[in-house]
Amino acid sequence: MPDFGSKAYWDERYKTGGANMFDWYMDYDGLKPSLRDVLNGQPGRTILIVGCGNSPVGETLYDEGYQNVTSIDNSQACISLMKTRSLTTRPGLKYHVMDAANMFTLTREEFDLVLDKALLDSTLCGKEPRGIFTKICSEVARVLKPGGTFISFSYAPPEERDDFFRDSAHLWKMSVFTITKPSLQDIVEHIVEDFAPKPYDPEANIDPESVHFIYRFEKAPREV
Ligand SMILES: C[S@@+](CC[C@H](N)C(=O)[O-])C[C@H]1O[C@@H](n2cnc3c(N)ncnc32)[C@H](O)[C@@H]1O
Repeated sequence: MPDFGSKAYWDERYKTGGANMFDWYMDYDGLKPSLRDVLNGQPGRTILIVGCGNSPVGETLYDEGYQNVTSIDNSQACISLMKTRSLTTRPGLKYHVMDAANMFTLTREEFDLVLDKALLDSTLCGKEPRGIFTKICSEVARVLKPGGTFISFSYAPPEERDDFFRDSAHLWKMSVFTITKPSLQDIVEHIVEDFAPKPYDPEANIDPESVHFIYRFEKAPREV
């Protein structure tokens, strides 16, 4: 298996095949229903994408009118590529080479929404996974506005993630949802999939291979 937990792996991947845009797990159509109530059609929403890779999600959000999107990745090769792509067509998009576990140049309480798709999963393939996972969650909590939302898209069911999220649990109210993975037949036949997130029911015995998991956290609102 490739070393998804290593920075060298990602750098090499973006240097050699980076121009081919790639979305882990799902594209924007898959994410959109899960973001709807947070974005609420309000173009001023501030959005941070952590571990953006060369996914076009930030670009699509921008094209849909959400022009306050910041994307970070710790791969220089990745960010150079994404900056070049947007230079003339989407000049307002912000890209930074940055470690999600240390987002020192982002001020606290800056974002309404922080989005993770497959970054936290990839860190669990690396060395010292628990430490990095927890640091990323605590940095996300720092940069989120009170009442803001963190959404993490993952392949892994709660029994493989609860323990990791628990360390940051005092900061959030957590809920878990699933969305069904489109079947190959659906893709081939261009059947419009239903990506509406469904509350996760631990009693339902769902096959974890048939769904993606969405971990959603609401940061506590500011106390008055
Ligand atoms: C599995 S890819 C996901 C890319 C994209 N989010 C998507 O859904 O297609 C993981 C990405 O996280 C980046 N990454 C890994 N560790 C990171 C860290 N500590 N800080 C910032 N980015 C990181 C990698 O360079 C890679 O681009």
